[in-house]
Amino acid sequence: MNLLIDSFEFGVLTQIHYGVGKLNELPDILKAENYQKVMIVTDPGLANSGLLERLEKILTSGEIQYAVFKEVQPDPTIEVVDTVRQLFLDNQCDAVIGIGGGSSIDTAKGVSAAVANPGDLGQFEGKNKLPNRGPDIIAIPTTAGTGSEVTHAMVLKDTKRKYKMGILSQNLHPKAAILDPQLLTTLPRGLAAITGMDALSHAIESYTSNQAQPITEALGLHAIRLIAKYLRPFVAQRTNLEAATQMMLASTIAGAAFIWGRVAAVHALSHPLGGRYKVPHGLANSILLPVVMEFNASSNQEKFKEIAILLGENVEGLSSREAALRSVDAVKGLIADLDIPPTLGANNVSLSEEEIHIVAQEALDSGVAAANPKVTTLEDLKNILRKAL
Ligand SMILES: [Fe+2]
Repeated sequence: MNLLIDSFEFGVLTQIHYGVGKLNELPDILKAENYQKVMIVTDPGLANSGLLERLEKILTSGEIQYAVFKEVQPDPTIEVVDTVRQLFLDNQCDAVIGIGGGSSIDTAKGVSAAVANPGDLGQFEGKNKLPNRGPDIIAIPTTAGTGSEVTHAMVLKDTKRKYKMGILSQNLHPKAAILDPQLLTTLPRGLAAITGMDALSHAIESYTSNQAQPITEALGLHAIRLIAKYLRPFVAQRTNLEAATQMMLASTIAGAAFIWGRVAAVHALSHPLGGRYKVPHGLANSILLPVVMEFNASSNQEKFKEIAILLGENVEGLSSREAALRSVDAVKGLIADLDIPPTLGANNVSLSEEEIHIVAQEALDSGVAAANPKVTTLEDLKNILRKAL
C-alpha cells in the first residue's frame, strides 16, 4: 500500500445497469434518454451467434428505431470508424450502441468522437486532446473482458502507420453500460480465456503501477480475487451463470481500476504486437503478463506477495522475494490451465532482433510503459520481448 498519498483523481461516470437478463430492459433505458434512432455497432461473430437478432427483436418490440453496422473486425481501424460515422449521419442517429468485445465498444466510441470532432482521429492521440463530446455511447459487453464499458479510453489502429493509437478523454466514457452475464454464456472457450486474462492484466497492472491509488488498489485487488476464483470455471463452462456473473463484474471492476490506476509494460508491448503482428490483445497480454511481473516483482514485494496469495499460492515460511515471485508461478499455472499457448513462438509469431527493437521502441514512445512500477528502458522492453518469444 502506498501510504504517501499526495493527490489522485477517480470517477466512474458511466451509469451501470447490471442484471441477469438486463438486455431485455434496453428499450426502457433508451427511452429514458429520448433517443430517436440508435446506431448498433457489432462484429460478424456476434451477428452469427443469434445475439444481434435477439437485440433487434428487443428494440423492435420496444419501438426503438435503429441502424446496424455488423462488420467490426479485431483491432478496429480509423477507416472503419469513418465508415460507421457516415452511416450514423446518413441514418440521422442520435446515440451509438457498441455491443460485443472491446473492438465493437471502441468502434462505437470512435464513431461518437468522429461525429463531434472533424478530421483524422489520429490528431487527438494522447490524453485530454479530444475537444468535443459526441453523441451518447451505450456499451454492452459480451466478453469479460476489456472493461471498455466503463473507461474513457479507446484504442484504434492507424493502418497507414500499422500503429495502435490510444485516446484518453472524458469525452469518451459511455453514458451507460448494460452488464448482462447471460450474454457471456455463448462466448467461445478460447476467447473466454484470453479476454479473462486481459481483465487480469488490467487488475494486476493497475494494482502495481506507479499511478496506483487507494481506490484503484481496492478495485484491482477485488478483481484479482474474483478472477482467481471464477476464470477457470467460467472458461471450462461458459453456461455456468455464477462464474459468468462474477467474471463480468471482475472485468468491469478491473476497467474502473485501470482507467485511473493505469496499465503499464504489458499493455505498452501488447499494443504494437497487435498493431503489427495481429496478436490478439488478450493473448499478447497473457504471454507478457508473467514476464513483466517477474521483471517488476522487486519493485514492491508486498504487493506481489498479496497477488500470489489471492491467486491461491501458499506463501507461508517464504522470504519476501520468494513470496513475490510465487505470483509469477500462479499466473503461469493459470495460463496453462486455460490452455493458452504461453509464448509468441507457440502462437506462430517470431520476431527478429530488428523487429524486437521496433516493437520495444513503439512501446516506449507510446508512454504506456511510463506507469510501470520499475522504470523501464528500451533495453528492458527488448529483454521482456525476448523472454516472451
Ligand atoms: Fe487490455
